[in-house]
Amino acid sequence: MSRPRTAIIPVAGQGTRLLPATKSVPKELLPVYDTPLLQFALNEAAAAGVERVVLVTHPEKPGIEAYLEPRTLQVQALAKKGQHDLAAALRDTGAPRYVDVVCVEQAQPLGLGHAVACAAPVSLPGPIAVILPDDLILGPPCLAQMANAYADADMSALVAAMDVMPNEVQSYGIFDADPSDDMLLPSRGLVEKPDPSEAPSDLAAVGRYILDARVFDLLKTQGPGAGGEIQLTDAIARLGGLFAFRFEGTRFDCGTHEGLLNASLARRERLLDTRFDILFDHAAE
Ligand code: G1P
Repeated sequence: MSRPRTAIIPVAGQGTRLLPATKSVPKELLPVYDTPLLQFALNEAAAAGVERVVLVTHPEKPGIEAYLEPRTLQVQALAKKGQHDLAAALRDTGAPRYVDVVCVEQAQPLGLGHAVACAAPVSLPGPIAVILPDDLILGPPCLAQMANAYADADMSALVAAMDVMPNEVQSYGIFDADPSDDMLLPSRGLVEKPDPSEAPSDLAAVGRYILDARVFDLLKTQGPGAGGEIQLTDAIARLGGLFAFRFEGTRFDCGTHEGLLNASLARRERLLDTRFDILFDHAAE
């Protein structure tokens, strides 16, 4: 059984829905309470054990590469002043340890399928993972859950899934699957942003994918789909061997102001709970 060695994180979008906050700051660097959105995706990739992360960037989007640089002098200065928590927090951001982070450019905004295809030349052999950073999932690391469930003998595509309201289907890729509460669900296909009257189900794709590397060949011949864009969804539907994966955790749409705010509140609650647990453990000692 092979696990994905590469995680592709598309970060070339213009963040239009988050203007004016994204006027000069990439949306992936906006904070979720204390931590930039991109960091969650990087940490999730590392937690799934990938060896390489490919960031698909836009040539006119500065800041992402700078974020990956270590700030060794600042870490040392903070530690010298006794600000060890801040030093540790800074040291643990940017490119994760033991993961090779590579940037490639997507010069034209031709769609998610096109962004993923841009990563093909630098992807390692075997299945690939894709993380959409806007889809923040708090809870047990989602991609690691999926990597544990991916069995490449039976599957060509494993895609994170959640139930949505019937009037929300036109915002998502929707699985063509029989109704079921199973965690792992075989699916006949995936339809990008269907009209509610034609949606095959209410089970929506969330931005975590593990895909057989054949998807790169399919993307080469993938014509434009919904919205006139080259859709990853359409290539996955052609790949076959598709399974939906109901993950453990809570997903936030951080491509909207509302989603970012809710994610920040949830993150703060988690941090406070963790601190409370630590205090409680010390008190009990
Ligand atoms: C993308 C995918 C879609 C998926 C969604 C999840 O759409 O194309 O299939 O359901 O992410 O957030 P986007 O939201 O980028 O339009």
